[in-house]
Amino acid sequence: MIPQDVADTIVDPRAYADGKRVDDAFAWLRKQAPFDVAQPEGFDPFWVVTRHADILEVERQNELFHNGDRATIVTTIEGDRKVRAMTGGSPHLVRSLVQMDNPDHHAYRRLTQAWFMPQNLRPLEARIRKIARGFVDRMASLGGACDFARDVAFLYPLHVIMEVLGVPEIDEPRMLKLTQELFGGADPDLNRSGGAVQDVDQGIADLQATVMDFMTYFNAMTEDRRRNPRKDLASVIANGQIDGKPLGHLEAMSYYIIAATAGHDTTSNTTAGGLWALAENPEQFAKLKADPSLIPSFLDESIRWVTPVKHFMRTATADAEVAGRKISKGDWLFLSYPSGNRDEAVFEAPFRFDIERSPNKHVAFGYGAHVCLGQHLARMEMRILWEELLPRLEAVALNGEPKLTSANFVCGPKTVPISYTMH
Ligand code: HEM
Repeated sequence: MIPQDVADTIVDPRAYADGKRVDDAFAWLRKQAPFDVAQPEGFDPFWVVTRHADILEVERQNELFHNGDRATIVTTIEGDRKVRAMTGGSPHLVRSLVQMDNPDHHAYRRLTQAWFMPQNLRPLEARIRKIARGFVDRMASLGGACDFARDVAFLYPLHVIMEVLGVPEIDEPRMLKLTQELFGGADPDLNRSGGAVQDVDQGIADLQATVMDFMTYFNAMTEDRRRNPRKDLASVIANGQIDGKPLGHLEAMSYYIIAATAGHDTTSNTTAGGLWALAENPEQFAKLKADPSLIPSFLDESIRWVTPVKHFMRTATADAEVAGRKISKGDWLFLSYPSGNRDEAVFEAPFRFDIERSPNKHVAFGYGAHVCLGQHLARMEMRILWEELLPRLEAVALNGEPKLTSANFVCGPKTVPISYTMH
């Protein structure tokens, strides 16, 4: 059994906001208890999977380890009870690919899989480059100081995903706010109530209200795209068919919600964290500027470095054995991607930011049947931003203390104050 203080730390949003506290807890676990049971206060017990190889082993076996049988994000007993009471017994407020298993997962993923493939995305490159240039110009106009997270990193991927989804620009601030409410429920700066959430009922009611707002918005969009199909992703979802029938209402709404949320917060966090790392490592910045062919490996290192998705849960569908430990049917497993990405057995000096790291087999996009559907889009849009920004950015330094969001699911930097010279 994992000691209580370590168990409490790995689910504590404030430990993720601190950064070091959570890194230290996982470093200790990888050494002392790499695959063991935690029971943080108020939670059911679960296995904590901290090693790179064990994460792959669990993710590879998607029939043995299900996504949908229990909550896919670590949830308190009370929170789980509340959600089930609201949904009539389901542990999920939404039903996107993340909450599905086969056969539904396969059928629903196939619907948009081709859309997310590199050959389909290539024609979008020119348009995305134009958007990136707009943000770089904006940064150049800000007088040599800005908050890179708020002024660039949060807004650029938002604009890209909303455009590919088909959401008009005027609605982007609303989408950003709703996404931050969904992922930042524990952060007083971002959550719906605008304060510290003490009360489980309030937290869940806020989440439910946020999901309802998204659904109202996307319901209208579905009706529009059924009447007037376009080339956007929303039209693929609105007019898609599973076994000859339109998608279920909850499933269609959840499809939009995952694209509209996972599609930018992750990329924003990675971009903000990438620049923060460059500002702190001037020799790496100089190397990257001198050799732009390093952009792809810098990108992978920033994805590893930030690892914006902190965990997903799985549930065992039968008794099993992993890492020499016996798991029982119904057990819950916490896959820690940041821990896998700092695993000393796979990454040399894992706490060093190294833009030339090779190989860099990080697990930030997950693995197996649920591996991130948007990874090619994410890489493409980030590559384009750096290709546009780096040649114009002559020098950059931190101009205050960056801060991390207080959350334990999707999170990263929320403010990165910098000073810089650009032409
Ligand atoms: C740096 C950026 C991103 C990171 C680090 C990231 C990470 C992840 C992770 C860890 C998963 C779960 C994988 C698993 O269970 O094995 C996931 C799933 C997913 N991601 Fe991403 N993501 C990113 C960007 C995007 C973008 C741009 C989109 C575009 C819409 C997207 C859409 C999705 C979808 C739809 C899933 C669910 C796939 C499934 O369950 O089959 N992601 N992502």
